[in-house]
Amino acid sequence: MEKMWAGRFSKALDREADDFNSSISFDSRMYRQDIAGSIAHAAMLAKCGILTEEECQKITEGLGGIADDLESGALAIDPEAEDIHMFLESVLTQRIGETGKKLHTARSRNDQVAVDLRLYLRDEAKEIAGLLRSLIDTLKRKAEAHREVIMPGYTHLQRAQPVTFAHHLLAYCMMFLRDLGRLQDTVRRMNYSPLGCCALAGTTYRTDRLFTAERLGFDGLCENSMDGVSDRDFCVEMLSALSLIMVHLSRFSEEIILWSSWEFKFIELDDSFTTGSSIMPQKKNPDMAELVRGKSGRVFGDLMGTLTMLKGLPLAYNKDMQEDKEAVFDALETVKHCLSVFVPMIDTMKPLPDNMLRAAQKGFINATDLADYLVGKGRPFRSAYKTVGQLVARCLELGTVLDELPMEEYRAADPLFEEDLYREISLEVCVGRRNSLGGCGRESFDRQLCYIAGALKGITL
Ligand code: ARG
Repeated sequence: MEKMWAGRFSKALDREADDFNSSISFDSRMYRQDIAGSIAHAAMLAKCGILTEEECQKITEGLGGIADDLESGALAIDPEAEDIHMFLESVLTQRIGETGKKLHTARSRNDQVAVDLRLYLRDEAKEIAGLLRSLIDTLKRKAEAHREVIMPGYTHLQRAQPVTFAHHLLAYCMMFLRDLGRLQDTVRRMNYSPLGCCALAGTTYRTDRLFTAERLGFDGLCENSMDGVSDRDFCVEMLSALSLIMVHLSRFSEEIILWSSWEFKFIELDDSFTTGSSIMPQKKNPDMAELVRGKSGRVFGDLMGTLTMLKGLPLAYNKDMQEDKEAVFDALETVKHCLSVFVPMIDTMKPLPDNMLRAAQKGFINATDLADYLVGKGRPFRSAYKTVGQLVARCLELGTVLDELPMEEYRAADPLFEEDLYREISLEVCVGRRNSLGGCGRESFDRQLCYIAGALKGITL
């Protein structure tokens, strides 16, 4: 196929170079956005008297027909085309003749591709937001169903203080809520139209950029044409938002992998989200969680690649920027894929409360509460802390735990200890009473649920 820009050249592009230069294999996914942008552009040209109404109608109908045919499969994308913009324009011209050649008046592929990508990412952000919402809903439901289930809370992966399984799950809800907020912020800053910036310097035609911006649902204009065609901050912002989603999914996956090991056995993943081994008949592997954890690296790579691609670029457009798309598309696909598997995996996973409780009972996890008990009786915290440390050492010597250490031992350590201590350090009391704001107690749990519901309402994506 002859290039649209062939006029200036005396030779055709080298075959290898042509392949190297082409982006149709990955940018064809933006055909809907490209067509929407072109229809808005044609309408603007007509409104400004640059095209006649009939020409605009012909172009609009032509583009509509192309969209329908691409949707139905009647028209296939030509893999030989240079990119989606050239492909659609050439099909339009084949179909409607000379009028098709007028569409590119007062426009360049540089503003065209920037518009397409913003529109595309805006749509994708909505889809990912939907998946995040369903993840948050699933976690909330699971948490409500297991609000009384006690498990060990860890620091340094050492048993630290008792928490509820529900509290642990809500911690992830908070992360995914922030992810939603970050997506919304990204879209808010991205939603400015570069259309009409043209190649880099604007145009001498009397165009109406506000008209196209409004038609395409943008909140405003890129105010500097050179910035408009060369800005890819929105890709970086999207990639960082996606990277943090992957960080959260990966941390959660790591816990799921640990929790489903025999050493923990806090949960049982559903058979439909685990795999077997080709040699070890007993195996049930958490492959989905491992893959999510592994795929996080790809998304971070997409972010790093894009930052590096941009960092040395002089203004305005440079072909390096064609590389933005594969990175951002790969990250979007990866995150969507991960979330689509993760949500039902969480939904079907079965918590094993007895095992969680048993683990919480073994590790002096109520030692802080015992110190707090002494503080309640009037001892300064630091002294109480020291006494309890010595009691833990004594328990280890005797091979017992704080809940079973005899009263004489307690009395010998501090005369302020009384019989009520055993009730005060029971795990139910330790957990249920932690009602400081954000704590793992019952009242705090209800507060968190209210907070999550309110925050979700505040996000419009
Ligand atoms: N395929 C190109 C890209 O993705 C479109 C813009 C081409 N512009 C140009 N001046 N060659 O960046």
